[in-house]
Amino acid sequence: MSERKPLIAGNWKLNLGGPEGCELAHAIAKTASANPKVEVVVAPPFTALASVAETVREAGGHVGIAAQNLYPKDSGAFTGEISAPMLIAAGCQWVIIGHSERRQLFGETDDQVREKTAAALAGGLLPIVCVGETLEERERHETLDVVYRQVDAFLPQLEQAPGKVVIAYEPIWAIGTGRVAGPEQAQEVHHAIRSRLGRSPGRVADLTRILYGGSVKGDNASGLLGCVDVDGALVGGASLKADDFSKIIQAANAL
Ligand code: 13P
Repeated sequence: MSERKPLIAGNWKLNLGGPEGCELAHAIAKTASANPKVEVVVAPPFTALASVAETVREAGGHVGIAAQNLYPKDSGAFTGEISAPMLIAAGCQWVIIGHSERRQLFGETDDQVREKTAAALAGGLLPIVCVGETLEERERHETLDVVYRQVDAFLPQLEQAPGKVVIAYEPIWAIGTGRVAGPEQAQEVHHAIRSRLGRSPGRVADLTRILYGGSVKGDNASGLLGCVDVDGALVGGASLKADDFSKIIQAANAL
């Protein structure tokens, strides 16, 4: 039995910034309490973090709160940015870093991902760092080259805090497309990432949770989560509705 507790995280992206986020969080908190073998996290937009955190606290606190990004300085003249201490003050324990949408739409680089991961850990947040290849890269058989490069960028931070940094493998061609990676495809890359971590000292490879993300739904979750190197899921679209997200949590709890 793996010592890595399954983690199901919902990335709300640019959705549910108002009271409807609290309603969803309330329902998810109930599901989380009923499925104690699973660690559950939700990632609302910045503006909803504090109110969702409060909702979860009132409901018994079995849901972690993640931001979707952070700025790697604590304070200063950085108009429009949000720091790790601010996220902690808003009630976060987690932060998603290097999502492919940030890399592709906002030009985030591997160096910035490393800086943000370091800032998250220094500020007391648990990072969920995303990696994954484009369709073109997969077709050129470059999947592992790309994923190794992205993981190597924050390997020092991962080694510094074994078990604290979570990796999310999200093949870009599977995000929001309904085109999910099959369990064998996911397992192949997850196994490759864990083998790469096997070069690190200590128990980094054993302790690091590797989530799969990309069109995870209630009806495909069991197959993906049943793979030995898949330790949970980072869910987009299906995390926006209580019933859909609950099915994924239940699938993880039933393993
Ligand atoms: P979908 O589940 O909508 O494909 O999104 C995945 C994702 O990007 C989670 O971060």
